[in-house]
Amino acid sequence: MKILVTGGAGYIGSHTIIDILDNTDHEVVSIDNFSNSDPQTFERIKAITGKKVKNYEIDLTSYGTLKKEFFLKEGHIDGIIHFAALKAVGESVSKPVMYYHNNLNGLINLLKCAQKFDVDSFIFSSSCTVYGNALEQPVTEQTPTQIPESPYGYTKLVGEKILADFAKTKLDFQALSLRYFNPVGAHISGMNGELPKGRPNNLVPVVTQFASGWVDDLVVHGSDYETRDGTAIRDYIHVSDIAHAHVLALEYLNSNESESNYDVFNLGSGRGVTVFEVLQAFEKVSGLKLDYKVGPRREGDVEMIYADNSKATTLLKWNLQFGIEEAMSSAWKWQKHLNAAKRDDKVLL
Ligand code: NAD
Ligand code: WQD
Repeated sequence: MKILVTGGAGYIGSHTIIDILDNTDHEVVSIDNFSNSDPQTFERIKAITGKKVKNYEIDLTSYGTLKKEFFLKEGHIDGIIHFAALKAVGESVSKPVMYYHNNLNGLINLLKCAQKFDVDSFIFSSSCTVYGNALEQPVTEQTPTQIPESPYGYTKLVGEKILADFAKTKLDFQALSLRYFNPVGAHISGMNGELPKGRPNNLVPVVTQFASGWVDDLVVHGSDYETRDGTAIRDYIHVSDIAHAHVLALEYLNSNESESNYDVFNLGSGRGVTVFEVLQAFEKVSGLKLDYKVGPRREGDVEMIYADNSKATTLLKWNLQFGIEEAMSSAWKWQKHLNAAKRDDKVLL
C-alpha cells in the first residue's frame, strides 16, 4: 500500500513512519510544512530504518497546492494517516483563529482530495481532550465527550465529527479517529524523540530539559488534588506503542472486520500515573535527583484521566511493549543525544 503520512516530521508522525518502514512493505510519503518540526527528522528516520522518505513541504490549508503538487504528482494513495495539526493548548487560546484555520482546513482539504482521488482509508489523530473533565474513570469510547475548553481541543472534537459525517457519504471509505492520551518517550535507540520549539509545556520534556539545565525550573502544578499523592493523574503512553497502533489500525481497516466504516479507539496504557510518580520514574532511570518546586494548579487541568484501552487491545490486537520507566529512560537517552549535539555544536542527526 502507498500511505500518505501528514505531519511526518513531527513527534508522533516520525515514530509512526519508523514503525511502518520497519514492520511493513508499505510505501510511505509525507507532507509536512515544518511549522513545528525540522527537515532533519527525515535524516534521523533514515539513520534508524536505512530508508529514505520523500516529504512534500506543503501547507495542507492550501487545497490547490495539495491537489496539484501532491495528489496529481504522486498518483494513487491507498491510505492517509493525518497527524498534521497545531497542538499547543495555551497558544490555541490566544490564537484561536489560527488553530481553527490550520487544523480544520487541513482536514477538510484532505477529505476533499480523498473524495476526488478515491482514497480508501483514513486515520485521524484525535485526543483524550475530547472527554474533558470526565465523570467516570477509566474513560471508554462510550464515555460522553464534552465541549473542550481550548480551541485546540475543539478542533479535535469537530474534526472527529467532520470525519464521521464524511464517512457516511462515502461508503467505500474506512476511517478511524484514534484518541491519544499522553504520548511520551522516544525511539528505543534514543535517536528520535520530541523536540518542541521554545520552552516545552508538557511534563516529560520539561523534566528532561530541566535535568539538563535547558529550563530553569520544574514546577509541579498542584499537589492538592484528591489523588493518592495529591498530584494529577494522567495516562502516559510510549510514543512507539502509539506509533505501532497505527500500523495495526491500517491492517484493521483493510481487513474489513469493522461493522461500520467509521470508528473511534482510545490509545492509552490503561494506567493512571501521578505527576510525582513520573518524577520518581525519571529519578530511578537517570540516577538523578530532581529539585522540583510545588506550585498551584494549572488553569484548565483536569484532576484525573486514564483510558480503558480494551477496545484497541481486542480489536486492533494492540499489545503494549513499554511502561513508564522505558518511556522515561528513552526520553532521557534522547535528551542526552540533544545535549551532545548542543555541546559539540553539531548539527543534530
Ligand atoms: P507535532 O507538532 O510534533 O507534529 C505535527 C506536524 O504537523 C509538525 O511537524 C508540523 O510541522 C506539521 N503541520 C502542522 N500543520 C501543518 C500544515 N498545515 N501543513 C503541513 N504540515 C503541518 O505534533 P505531534 O505531537 O506529533 O502530534 C501529532 C498529532 O497528534 C496532532 O494532530 C496532535 O494534535 C495529536 N495529538 C498529540 C498529542 C501529544 O501530546 N503529542 C496528544 C493527543 C493528540
Ligand atoms: C501532564 C501533567 C500537568 C508540566 C496535554 C493536552 C492534551 C494532550 C496531551 C494533545 C498535568 C503536570 C506539566 C509541568 C506539571 N495533547 N505538569 N509541571 O495537560 O495532560 O495534556 O497533552 O491532544 O490535550 O492538554 O499534559 O504533559 O502538559 O501535563 O506539573 O511543568 O503534568 O499539570 O497534571 P496534559 P502535560
